[in-house]
Amino acid sequence: MKYTIRKCVDEQDFGTKARTVFLNAVYSSRYYPGAPDTPCRVILPTGNTPLPFYAALRDMASDVPPFEYCQLDEYIGLSQGDARLFSEQLAKLVLNPLKISSRMIFNSCADPLEEVSRIRDWHLKNGPADVAVLGIGENGHVGFNEPGAKFHDRANIVTLEKSTLEANNAYGNGPVPERAITLGLGDLLLARETILLVRGAKKADILAHALFGAVTESVPASYLQNYTGKLTIVADEAALAKLPSRILVPS
Ligand code: GLP
Repeated sequence: MKYTIRKCVDEQDFGTKARTVFLNAVYSSRYYPGAPDTPCRVILPTGNTPLPFYAALRDMASDVPPFEYCQLDEYIGLSQGDARLFSEQLAKLVLNPLKISSRMIFNSCADPLEEVSRIRDWHLKNGPADVAVLGIGENGHVGFNEPGAKFHDRANIVTLEKSTLEANNAYGNGPVPERAITLGLGDLLLARETILLVRGAKKADILAHALFGAVTESVPASYLQNYTGKLTIVADEAALAKLPSRILVPS
């Protein structure tokens, strides 16, 4: 694991630092002589953590280059327009304001097995993401890869843990479905660059474990220690508080 940590002093700093890291990743993946002429493929997370990042992107929407959005995870069984849909939330927060029209969205209403097969085929055909922006759950989940997910998993159907349901019910859009589709850790391992966004003291223990504890499928985010792409962690001081003392994080 080769990583860089960007420490943030407040929400605004978090937003602008995450935006800088993201824009560098997008530019460096496509805007160089001989780069592929397909748009940069980007995975984006939901949740509270990335909100300052999305606000920072909206602030300079006209300067963000076009990219192709590829969905990370979605609940099963919600109708189009439902406020609980991650695709709806991301459309409002970032994709519509940035006028990103190229979107690989999961169909929450489709037959889940057929949808997973469609998503797997799409990823096989189109190749891995260029930039995976991710959050982390308090139980170490990434996307909806709950503890026990396999490091080699591709897109699959998951049953959410009680703690994940509680955390996501608290977003205030109503009770969320118990089943979801997520890209697998095997898909995320292939991303060329990963940006992990982490905020708050309640994420400090799991962040320390993910990066420096045992590599185990019971802590899905510990897959990052096997990751060979470029990894940047953008985190506030509270989230970094439990890192081993030997890890020096520049201000
Ligand atoms: C959700 C999402 C994840 C997200 C995580 C953390 O369940 N599926 O993609 O990273 O929870 O959310 P928060 O940032 O609100 O803590």
